[in-house]
Amino acid sequence: MKLFKLFFLSFLFVIGINSCQNKTTDNIKTSKQTNNPFDVQIKKLLSKMTLEEKIGQLNMLSGDWSVTGPTIRSNVAKEIKEGHVGAMLNSYTAAYTRKLMELAVDSTRLGIPLLFGYDVIHGMRTIFPIPLGESCSWDLKLIEKSARIAAIEASAEGVDWTFAPMVDISRDPRWGRVMEGAGEDPWYGSLVAKARVKGFQGSNLSSDSTILACVKHGVAYGAPIAGRDYNTVDMSKRTLLGVYLPPYHAAVEAGVATAMTAFNDLNGTPCTANGWIWNNLYRKQWGFKGFVVSDYTAINELVPHGVAKNLFDADVLAFNAGVDMDMMGEGYISNLKKAVAEGLVSEKEINRSVYRILKAKFELGLFKNPYKYSNEQREKNDLMTPEHLAFARKDARESIVLLKNNEHLLPLSKKIKSIAIIGPLGDNKYNMLGAWSAAGDRYKDPVTLLEGVKNKLGNRVKIRYAQGTGFNTKSTKGFQKAINLAKNSDVVLLAVGESNDMSGEASSRAYLNLPGNQNDLVDAILKVNKKTVIILMNGRPLTISHLAKVAPAILETWFAGTEAGNAIADVVFGDYNPSGKLTMTFPRNVGQIPIFYSHMNTGRPFSPSNHYTSKYIDSPNSPLYPFGFGLSYTTFKYDSLSISKQEITTKDTLRVSVVLKNTGNYDGTEVAQLYIRDLVGSVTRPVKELRGFRKVFLRKGESKKLIFKLTNKDLSFYRKDMTFGSEPGRFYVFVGGNSNTEYKRSFWLK
Ligand code: BGC
Repeated sequence: MKLFKLFFLSFLFVIGINSCQNKTTDNIKTSKQTNNPFDVQIKKLLSKMTLEEKIGQLNMLSGDWSVTGPTIRSNVAKEIKEGHVGAMLNSYTAAYTRKLMELAVDSTRLGIPLLFGYDVIHGMRTIFPIPLGESCSWDLKLIEKSARIAAIEASAEGVDWTFAPMVDISRDPRWGRVMEGAGEDPWYGSLVAKARVKGFQGSNLSSDSTILACVKHGVAYGAPIAGRDYNTVDMSKRTLLGVYLPPYHAAVEAGVATAMTAFNDLNGTPCTANGWIWNNLYRKQWGFKGFVVSDYTAINELVPHGVAKNLFDADVLAFNAGVDMDMMGEGYISNLKKAVAEGLVSEKEINRSVYRILKAKFELGLFKNPYKYSNEQREKNDLMTPEHLAFARKDARESIVLLKNNEHLLPLSKKIKSIAIIGPLGDNKYNMLGAWSAAGDRYKDPVTLLEGVKNKLGNRVKIRYAQGTGFNTKSTKGFQKAINLAKNSDVVLLAVGESNDMSGEASSRAYLNLPGNQNDLVDAILKVNKKTVIILMNGRPLTISHLAKVAPAILETWFAGTEAGNAIADVVFGDYNPSGKLTMTFPRNVGQIPIFYSHMNTGRPFSPSNHYTSKYIDSPNSPLYPFGFGLSYTTFKYDSLSISKQEITTKDTLRVSVVLKNTGNYDGTEVAQLYIRDLVGSVTRPVKELRGFRKVFLRKGESKKLIFKLTNKDLSFYRKDMTFGSEPGRFYVFVGGNSNTEYKRSFWLK
């Protein structure tokens, strides 16, 4: 405890240095709350509420689904009617939310409306690529728009609050939840976080189609030891501040309305009991104005974490740490009244939490019309519209990454006579959407690869399918049929990867190879047909060294969502030239993990001629595919890299320009990336850090001059004394098509 206090105090010190605000939490409350147009109404309502009614607002329960549809458990109905519920989880459809809302509005003394929260992570009914895949598009407008459409569809089904964006940086693909985030890079992750908040919330929360966003999880949930979900996070202050915190901060800067805690402990304190995170970092330092919800029963889990001896103590700890709402734990509702009576929690603090929650309800316009999101007509009109589906197809196409393409095997000609679709993911609707697919109907909605190819080629071509094998089986029963089919087809699309439930929450893996005997199937098919394209579907970077060696062409398609099959067919047959670039490094083997491009140089960087340098004796250090990597059907050349000045001051903006030329035979889109390296610092600095990118379309033969700008902020970091700023000295600036680029110039910061 003493140690924690020391740690906590040093954090306060560090953060204090950077802070321009030096206000007490109370001052902050007053200034923020008086800015709020609903201040008078909220205070008036608060003054009428009993302590029990106030605590009710801090409680979130869940809706239920039976085979026939949503149901209301009698105890949940009773709790709502008694004013013991502020928000509902897993409750959607216009009719269902209306029924639940009626219980709150008609039966409680004050008729305070409920919030309806749901995990709208990559679409509501129209499902977009998993966020990790979508981040490979490097298209912030596209990312914002997918969140926008998700909000339109969610709000048409009664949902006014999404538990997204998930912005946890992760450098460990064993962790199954990497599929929900934007990959390994804090700078890019921050831009994606902002785009997604903007997409969900729009510029006006009171509109009918915008919803509250929720940045999650806590902080640093993406770095569990050994990649095992829910595991401890143990991290230096410098890494926390410099690498893991920026995307949460970015979401707050973008005005995110709510934040969620995390299941993990961080340096000894569970995130859900960490007052430094919520009261200090989020609220004081970052000026977060929304409310904080616990992750699912995360308050209760303070007991097994071993920081509370019972639920009562856990509730007191979490509440005083700044957690406003209890998701599913039912602890606040049982214990906070007693905690107030015993003086362990103050009613003033409860008022403050209730204020924040009521403010969200006012901002959404629920007090004007509690049923505004339960709109059957909109539910009929606004889901899976042709426009949403067309966008989903575009989004999916842009998320696909071409990893290998020997001898221009891709794109395939549409004039082929026959094609074999083989593999456990060749015609498998259920597994196309990936985890967290909200209201997407996995039995019905997704377009499979087989369907996509049929849609594209019609009856002109003989299109046949054989599963070959399952996801995770040793049985080779299906092999022969698939081999025969491959033998008798011009080309093969071999769809392998993970099943839908192998990534996502609680789905960490210790082995990242293609599961079961899928590699054997690949070998067997390649033996009889060399024109085999691997279509990967998966929720994380996999260790596919074997595939990379034997297969002539590999397309990483992630879980591409409702329109997956059509989008993959667009890419395979050249109607879209792939442009995706990896936002997470692909390791060669699990032993290399955690692996990321932005590592330190070490005192003994690897040298092949010196045994005593940093390396493995049984594996290269380099990844299989680096961050930022992705091929195109065309080729690009970077030329004439130049900088506007050799020497700059902290006030200057450095202009970096490069000429990008499409040197191949197809029109195509390139994501040009800019990285920096600070050569000497008061602390060690990464060998590369992303600081810019441009996504550009070039016709074949076309060139374009690209301009990037670097400011002092781009050169800044947490220095030895933990202040944030730059240091004078020499820098490299690199430009290229992935993080391996060595095309560079150098400049001095005075
Ligand atoms: C997850 C959250 C999610 C919540 C509600 C938890 O298990 O960690 O990300 O928002 O459930 O479904």
